[in-house]
Amino acid sequence: MYHVTMTIHTIANDELERAVAVLRSGELLAFPTETVYGLGADASNPQAVKKIFALKGRPSSHPVIVHIGDVSELSRWASEVSPAAQKLAAAFWPGPFTLILKRAATVNDAVTGGQDTVALRVPSHSIAQQLLRAFGGGIAAPSANRFGHVSPTLASHVRDEFGDDLLVLDGGDCEIGLESTIISCAGEVPHLLRPGKITLSQLQAVVPEVTTALAIDTPRAPGMLEKHYSPATPIRIVNRVQLDQLLYEYVQRKQKVAVLAMYAGDIEQDTVSWVNAGNDAAAYAHSLYANLRTLDKAGAQCMLVEQVPSGEQWQAVTDRLQRAAAD
Ligand code: TXA
Ligand code: MG
Repeated sequence: MYHVTMTIHTIANDELERAVAVLRSGELLAFPTETVYGLGADASNPQAVKKIFALKGRPSSHPVIVHIGDVSELSRWASEVSPAAQKLAAAFWPGPFTLILKRAATVNDAVTGGQDTVALRVPSHSIAQQLLRAFGGGIAAPSANRFGHVSPTLASHVRDEFGDDLLVLDGGDCEIGLESTIISCAGEVPHLLRPGKITLSQLQAVVPEVTTALAIDTPRAPGMLEKHYSPATPIRIVNRVQLDQLLYEYVQRKQKVAVLAMYAGDIEQDTVSWVNAGNDAAAYAHSLYANLRTLDKAGAQCMLVEQVPSGEQWQAVTDRLQRAAAD
């Protein structure tokens, strides 16, 4: 049903053994997934999970996703798996999809932020799969960036965030480039908490009652804070006419400006850093975070981002751009 074509990456046995030893000893490592890189710890070890929050600078009340190798491990982590959750898991795992379920009694508070629910995902990336199978347990992992920063889609992004002391399994660039679609199946009606590559219509094709309406007891989710996924350079989302106008003004004033557009710019000024991200939604998403990181380094006063189209394919990109632009 849902399908991504993947490059198969593998890691050498000795590196895999080292990675498993790091997890077993309660330390952290970064690993690739098809969405973004994760900062992982043994999900059954609360001391290890706490190190994630310390390193990221993330409030400890924010829950993290537990990555598992296979859907058959669900019952170790969730106490209730509704028929809707089972259908969604069967359709979209392994893949860029996260389910929020009522947690099993054994799941520790460091993972859930003290809530009665747990977030679970079976990633499809071959190295994530290799690691999960060799480790044999759940790996708690948020995106491998400092709190509020842009998520990493390359091993070098993770090193830029955390330096060389952290073990980073290199799986090349992440195929999808945006975080997973999150659905809560912990309440009465399954609902979308975070848009991602898997769209609402794809979800509804499997479970028609999935809605975007948020439940009254909306769980705490930092991905839902207004400002998130942010570069340091202030971002303005503009249409093409505004872009032309503003660009002209920046050039006149000889001020540096960064531009993320869907077409090639014809301005040859060294004060203008221009990225043409194209108009294909999947390709745009794939390179969005790398583009934001590149443009952030231009030392510009402002980053002008051309507004993307409104279709469903663009929903996740729109969501991330709006959060990146929020002040
Ligand atoms: O694609 C992804 O989902 C990546 C890769 C590494 O798997 N992970 C990721 O994790 O984006 P993170 O922590 O950056 O975002 C996970 C989101 C957060 O907004 C968190 O609050 C929410 O999931 N979340 C986790 N557990 C939850 C729960 N029990 N209830 C509601 N939201 C939850
Ligand atoms: Mg994150």
